[in-house]
Amino acid sequence: MQIGIMGLGTVGTGVVELIEKNNDTITKRIGDRINIKKVLVQNLNKERPTLVEGKITDKFEDILEDEDISIIVEVMGGEEPAHTYIRKALSRGKHVITANKEVISKHGKELLELSAEKNVNLLFEASVGGGIPIIRPMKQCLSANEITKIIGILNGTTNYILSQMSERGKSFSEALKEAQLKGYAESDPTNDVKGFDAARKLAILSSIVFNTRITPEQVYTEGIDSISPADIQYAREMGSVIKLIAIGKKHENSVEVSVTPVLLREDHPLASVAGTFNAIMVEGDAVGPVMFYGLGAGKMPTASAVVADIMEAIKHKNGSKIHCTCYNHLNVMDAGAATTSFYLRLRVLDRPGVLSKIAGAFGENQISLSKVFQKNTMNGTAEIVIVTYDVPFQNLQDALSEIQAYKQVAEISTVIRVEGER
Ligand SMILES: NC(=O)c1ccc[n+]([C@@H]2O[C@H](COP(=O)([O-])OP(=O)(O)OC[C@H]3O[C@@H](n4cnc5c(N)ncnc54)[C@H](OP(=O)(O)O)[C@@H]3O)[C@@H](O)[C@H]2O)c1
Repeated sequence: MQIGIMGLGTVGTGVVELIEKNNDTITKRIGDRINIKKVLVQNLNKERPTLVEGKITDKFEDILEDEDISIIVEVMGGEEPAHTYIRKALSRGKHVITANKEVISKHGKELLELSAEKNVNLLFEASVGGGIPIIRPMKQCLSANEITKIIGILNGTTNYILSQMSERGKSFSEALKEAQLKGYAESDPTNDVKGFDAARKLAILSSIVFNTRITPEQVYTEGIDSISPADIQYAREMGSVIKLIAIGKKHENSVEVSVTPVLLREDHPLASVAGTFNAIMVEGDAVGPVMFYGLGAGKMPTASAVVADIMEAIKHKNGSKIHCTCYNHLNVMDAGAATTSFYLRLRVLDRPGVLSKIAGAFGENQISLSKVFQKNTMNGTAEIVIVTYDVPFQNLQDALSEIQAYKQVAEISTVIRVEGER
């Protein structure tokens, strides 16, 4: 089976090495041998592994127009030209494997419809959770279930940063710098720390499990860049940790999708997922809770998913078995209507009566408080930490805009969702 690979960076090199290392076993398992015929790159002058000597090109057409190549692997990244190349490859009747969450989360509908029309495979296991098998288990092994909830840690960079803040007492910027030095964070970390990367992955997963098309813009998204060591410390005092959590919930006629920092109790299965690891929990009506755990990125873990997709495409080379399953048209719930409990940290003037004034604003907005602590005092101000019971986000926002206007309130420092507080 002749394949073409577009991109020879971290993942592309891993794919080449993994095929070389395990090709005998792969051949026995699928009854066909993978041969890498051409590899597309941008810069012809870069040094490349000897394994691909004589196969490198910088012209997409060399791969597209090669009639021997029936599978194209896209591991270039970015929206364009990757999206256009994938569309052209499918139109030409070639199977496509991609690790590109940006393209799949934004253009999945169009590309899956095209793959169905052309009766070819479009597989994207590596686009969510890197090496963790999650797309195919959802589309196949768990497909007899109604999935009501999906909750996970979908970004290794932010999990590493939060783990360093929690375990080593580092500030956000110190932990980010260390992640960049270790190669876990890019020089421009925006997509990771602002939650955009996790939102793309959640959009893909939610579209699959709730059978309704969800795009990244519909995911309510907050990053971790405003989390301070004080929040980590106060969470710990309450027996909790802070994680960047992606949640998809199915309601009667809508779905709720968000990526935000969340306080998780220490005994929550996701609380102990540390460092660059990812984990995804799914609740099915027949199977109950199922958890997937592993490395969500990296050269070889990601190559593991990509090469397995190549093998799957070879097994189904005469026709695609898995197409778009977004047959529902559910609304995405407005973030203001989503109900959960919240952790708040405020700095207020250290004077009598301030707390009761704040409590009044919460009461007027039908918000009940579960915990209130006064923390350190400095320069005539006191830090107050509050945990609410479940409340619609809109009610909280209304209360906070009233509280913000009080002259006794110096600052509303942090607002974080709490999972599992009733
Ligand atoms: N890295 C991970 O751990 C990981 C995990 C899961 C998913 N992914 C996804 O996998 C994809 C690839 O990521 P990566 O980390 O391997 O990227 P990368 O290291 O930056 O490599 C990108 C490769 O694509 C080539 N390329 C980029 N634009 C091109 C263009 N316009 N024409 C031809 N070639 C082009 C580059 O060529 P040159 O070599 O000539 O510069 C390079 O070889 C992305 O979609 C990413 O989101 C990555």
